[in-house]
Amino acid sequence: MSTLTVLHFPDPRLRKKARPVAAVDAQVRQLSRDMLETMYAENGIGLAATQVNVQQRVVVMDLSEEKNEPVTLVNPEIMQETGTEEMEEGCLSVPGFTDLVQRAEKISYRYLDLDGQEIEAEADGLRAVCIQHEIDHLDGKLFIDYLSPIKRQRVRKKIAKQNKIRAL
Ligand code: NI
Repeated sequence: MSTLTVLHFPDPRLRKKARPVAAVDAQVRQLSRDMLETMYAENGIGLAATQVNVQQRVVVMDLSEEKNEPVTLVNPEIMQETGTEEMEEGCLSVPGFTDLVQRAEKISYRYLDLDGQEIEAEADGLRAVCIQHEIDHLDGKLFIDYLSPIKRQRVRKKIAKQNKIRAL
């Protein structure tokens, strides 16, 4: 296993659209292991392959307190959305910044697991928010895209400053 480098906004590679996975094979399982290790190392609850510069539709998550319930979603798709909910979101690609984002409250979704089995499930609360946030990444979208242009400009400045400090 190895940890991968997480891209930070405004890296243009975060805007690439990921391709569907044709077959859940050893490469995908290795990617999933590396992504989980990276996510745990960075104290995240979700990570999309796009964030580690891999354009494949793969997402990992772990919403448990003990960080012992890893989930991998291959080719995740939302089938139905109901209601709206506003939650405070953050992102490993937008470090040090959180804000309220409005999303669907409840979703039904499907994905392939690491055995290539198709799973259909429903989610609400944090899990529903996380799945929507990660699928957005696969489509080249970030949570700050939902904020006003003024707020987004503020994030851009703050991160530019952070990057400068990191480069010293
Ligand atoms: Ni994110």
